[in-house]
Amino acid sequence: MQIVDNYRLKIGGRDYVPIMIGGMGVNISTSELALEACRLGGIGHISDAMVLVVTDRKFGTTFTRAKYEKHRRYQESIDKSAVKFDLEDLKQAQIMHVQRTMEKKRGSGAVFVNIMEKLTMSDPLPTLKTRLCAALDAGADGITLSAGLHTHSLGLMEGHPRFRDAMIGIIVSSLRALKVFLRGAQRLNRLPDYVVVEGPLAGGHLGFGLEWAEYDLGAIVKEVVSFLEAEDLKIPVIAAGGIFTGGDAVELLEYGAGGVQVATRFTVTRECGLPNEVKQQYFKALPEDVIVSSCSPTGYLIRLLGTSPCLGSNVKPNCEAFGYALSREGKCQYLDAYQQGLSDKVGAKLPIQEKICLCYHFSQYHCYTCGHNVYRLKDTSIVNEDGTYQLLSAEHVFKDYQFSVGDELCLPQRASKTGLGAVVGI
Ligand SMILES: Cc1cc2nc3c(=O)[nH]c(=O)nc-3n(C[C@H](O)[C@H](O)[C@H](O)COP(=O)(O)O)c2cc1C
Repeated sequence: MQIVDNYRLKIGGRDYVPIMIGGMGVNISTSELALEACRLGGIGHISDAMVLVVTDRKFGTTFTRAKYEKHRRYQESIDKSAVKFDLEDLKQAQIMHVQRTMEKKRGSGAVFVNIMEKLTMSDPLPTLKTRLCAALDAGADGITLSAGLHTHSLGLMEGHPRFRDAMIGIIVSSLRALKVFLRGAQRLNRLPDYVVVEGPLAGGHLGFGLEWAEYDLGAIVKEVVSFLEAEDLKIPVIAAGGIFTGGDAVELLEYGAGGVQVATRFTVTRECGLPNEVKQQYFKALPEDVIVSSCSPTGYLIRLLGTSPCLGSNVKPNCEAFGYALSREGKCQYLDAYQQGLSDKVGAKLPIQEKICLCYHFSQYHCYTCGHNVYRLKDTSIVNEDGTYQLLSAEHVFKDYQFSVGDELCLPQRASKTGLGAVVGI
């Protein structure tokens, strides 16, 4: 029987263990998590979602406060069109975030940055260009373009000296979306180095509508692989969404995928950025707790636990400090829902049911986004004496994907009483 370790992912002339840990914003896929994937010969992602907030927290900078101070006069105003990001601050934050991760790289793998187009940041193209180019300046091995069609993104990086050397890939959920991207890429003579095909069972925002359950990752992967073969395009396809065991991964590799991108299994590792109590919620999740909701102001569906504190919250938007989901015109679907709520029920405490404040709740880890298989995480660990589940190491989970046979799941060893060397990798 095949195991994942029998395969290698070839990107840009180099061989990797064919396991990518997907980007998880806001700082859920931490530098530590990405660096572990790299050390073990795979590919890890950091995410640049809310990068000013992340940098402030990690390195004590004050970018968010400065943005708030500059725009605080708009706090009571309905019109947020003047609330903009300072592009120089954005560049500095991105460079710090990425460079300080790259400086710690060890091993034969790579670290990529996940960059979501849907974070429109009140001025979509200039902010996106700043984020993309700063990630390249900072030495990122690669950039994974996500949450959008990215019709402009390659053009925004075209003048950068690393445009043709850094690895650039895109996440798509259909062949149609890939074709749109490839048309622009061919015009620039800059094809992607890899394509992540993300199916309907993934965590985070979904590239599908309400009929998501009718789609199947394996079928989309086969369709994309045969299209690329027919076009004689040698671009590796990386399958993502719902891949829970080494056996699941092997199945997709056998369909012609060059690698897999996985995320949910790493949400319960010590290196993951979620608070420990949230990791326990992920462990304890039941199938009926997992919902696919239209609550995200991005307009994409998002998968999350129904117990997430963000749902039905009426937090006052703080676009002056955050504003990552604002359009160029200063609009955000949560802002609209909030303002509508205020005018409907003057003075009353109003739960906003239909939308969530993405910025506030993601920055507070109140949105328990997860893949469909989150309820199986309890099968991947053991229960401590106090009833909590034992956190895993990223190495343990990575090697479980890499070496386990079929659907077997390797459990961690029980933590030692001394607390030293708590979990031993497989
Ligand atoms: C907690 C969490 C946060 C995520 N955040 C992002 C994100 O910020 N950007 C993105 O492109 N994908 C995001 N994803 C999707 C993953 O990168 C990955 O492609 C997908 O979840 C893989 O499926 P799996 O979780 O079933 O393994 C997220 C997934 C999870 C579980």
